[in-house]
Amino acid sequence: MRAPGCVLGIESSCDETAAAVLAPDGEILAERVLTQLADHAAFGGVVPEIAARAHLAALGPLVADALAEAGVGFADLGAIAATAGPGLIGGLLVGTGFAKGAALAAGVSYLAINHLEAHALTARLPGLAKSAPEFPYLLLLVSGGHCQCVAVEGVGRYRRLGSTLDDAVGEAFDKTAKLLGLPYPGGPALEAMAREGVARFDLPRPMLRREGCDFSFSGLKTAVVQLVAGYGAGALPRQLAADMAASFQAAVADIMADRLGHALAMLPAATAVVIAGGVASNQAIRLRLAEVAIANGKALIAPPLRLCTDNAVMVAWAGIERQRAGLVSTLAAPCKPRWPLEAI
Ligand code: KG4
Ligand code: ZN
Repeated sequence: MRAPGCVLGIESSCDETAAAVLAPDGEILAERVLTQLADHAAFGGVVPEIAARAHLAALGPLVADALAEAGVGFADLGAIAATAGPGLIGGLLVGTGFAKGAALAAGVSYLAINHLEAHALTARLPGLAKSAPEFPYLLLLVSGGHCQCVAVEGVGRYRRLGSTLDDAVGEAFDKTAKLLGLPYPGGPALEAMAREGVARFDLPRPMLRREGCDFSFSGLKTAVVQLVAGYGAGALPRQLAADMAASFQAAVADIMADRLGHALAMLPAATAVVIAGGVASNQAIRLRLAEVAIANGKALIAPPLRLCTDNAVMVAWAGIERQRAGLVSTLAAPCKPRWPLEAI
């Protein structure tokens, strides 16, 4: 028999349907992620209506599966946490509607979780880092929809130090990958291709050495568009595309390393640097960021890949952190497609 008070987490804000069950101390009892990549591949991006319907079809069986693996029933749960934003409204309604209904039926608490907060707190999951980072720490949140440096000052207390002025870094990866003829999502495919290439093209590094820690990627993307166009129509030869991929990735790594240095100067009290979001799974970028962190006397905490990309473990864990801080939600808590971290 499990101790009562387990937390079920649900994630459905974009194109991953995920469910996880955590013990009250944060031990992961079960985790499931179902990606909808195949459903959206033909469209080169996430189609909101397809995503919402796929979440609706997948969520019930996925939750049942996760509960069965964890060996707990709804009656053993202490709370149900679901991503309530930011994200695509259809998916958010599916996840939170399910969570609210189940919480009401089981007579347990409902926790409306901000997806960005879930990424931000993942590093504090027990057993993940040698010791959980104390507040304040610096979070570099780099995904398909987000690109920001955040001072994490406590549960529910976030201060944005800088963010992108145009594209998110993951979006830049996805768009560049598309130009190079790679499938969506472009990040992992571009990283793999970059390993075969030489960074021989001199691409711009927007914002480098600029005050603050804002990002910009549109100039870099435009430069790649022009570079590719310079080789005429038709598919690029593989080696050429690989060299472009390597050059793009090197430019992004330079930008991120520079911005991290500036962000650390803005938060000297940071106990550690935490990276989160899909792009944090890029090995070349991780390495560069680790160098900058170490040069500044900070540890770099990078969650394992499966916890860097969208998942429900982080949602359940954010629920536990919020419960501990006395921050529960009511069933009236709305979904918020736009929900900046500072507005929690
Ligand atoms: O955090 P995430 O799973 O979803 C959100 O956007 O919230 O991040 C997905 C993004 C996509 O843009 C994807 O191309 C990018 O992260 N990504 C990567 C890598 N893996 C995922 N970008 C660069 N290198 C990677 N290895
Ligand atoms: Zn995410």
